[in-house]
Amino acid sequence: MTAVGDRAGMTTTSSAHPDTVALEADLQEGFWADPPTLPARWLYDEAGSRLFDRITRLPEYYPTRSEARILRDRAGEIVDGSRTVVELGAGTSEKTRVLLDALVAGGGGALYVPVDISTEMLHETANTLAGEYPDLRVRPVVADITDLEPPLPGDPGTRLVLFLGGTIGNLTEDERDAFLRMLRRVAGPGDRIALGFDVRKSPERLVAAYDDAAGVTAEFDLNMLDVIARTVECTGLDRRDFRHDAVWNAAESRIEMWLRAVRDVRAWFPTLGREFTLAAGEGIRTEIARKFSGDELMAELGRIGFRDQVVWTDDAGDFGMVVAQVP
Ligand code: AVJ
Repeated sequence: MTAVGDRAGMTTTSSAHPDTVALEADLQEGFWADPPTLPARWLYDEAGSRLFDRITRLPEYYPTRSEARILRDRAGEIVDGSRTVVELGAGTSEKTRVLLDALVAGGGGALYVPVDISTEMLHETANTLAGEYPDLRVRPVVADITDLEPPLPGDPGTRLVLFLGGTIGNLTEDERDAFLRMLRRVAGPGDRIALGFDVRKSPERLVAAYDDAAGVTAEFDLNMLDVIARTVECTGLDRRDFRHDAVWNAAESRIEMWLRAVRDVRAWFPTLGREFTLAAGEGIRTEIARKFSGDELMAELGRIGFRDQVVWTDDAGDFGMVVAQVP
């Protein structure tokens, strides 16, 4: 009887998979809004993560190289005696290695805490690093980085909390404010944060970075439609009806990625009981990437209560790193 009941339960629950449940909620919240939006996290399935990896090596996409340069040139000053590095959204920790070198060079008790939502990648990374750095303790934490709870691992006052890649720019103003206040709260007095941020520059260069000649970013954006079609029940949503569009929104100081309909779209979501329509030329906003000046970001951090701020950029001034302390 139990077995039959279990099977019936499995086959009748169409929304059983956690991704399906989460995406249906995000669709409900954003797809029928004006404009339609979907959180950028749905860009990063396995195919999307591979495409993003290719993006970081594109000639037009300077942020990854510029940030790596800052980390190489300033590793000692960024680590500056910290004994614990907590990295939010650690992924494969590729760029972090120069900081880990500086951390270990500082003597005993070095601790690295990679924090990520993806369990597999986190443990793979932790194992690799443990093998490569015999003098480093590695303590991976699986968590939603927007919802951390104190205390962080490591001794209070000796921690450096890293948030790299310019991902701070993918948050809305409200999300960023909440995120920075959360960091202020989970980091203790004397702990420091280091944020990588993309610097505002000519719209031509910014648009090129998000709409490359080889079409990799377009593919990355369009892949979101495949993720939707695969994860929730729907008919009439076809990537051939869309094109990738990257636009500079000067008023908001941000790049926006859009999936723009090239003809009228009419899609049906049976599990949501809703029809999604888009007229040709209208779009779905899939990502925002806010660009800053160092002064803007420092002013914002100052208002939230961070102190002793330092900003470094690469030589070209394309990308920045701000370090700030919790008083
Ligand atoms: C690394 C997530 C910050 O916004 O520049 C790259 C993501 N999107 N090209 C960014 C991204 C399109 C990237 N982040």
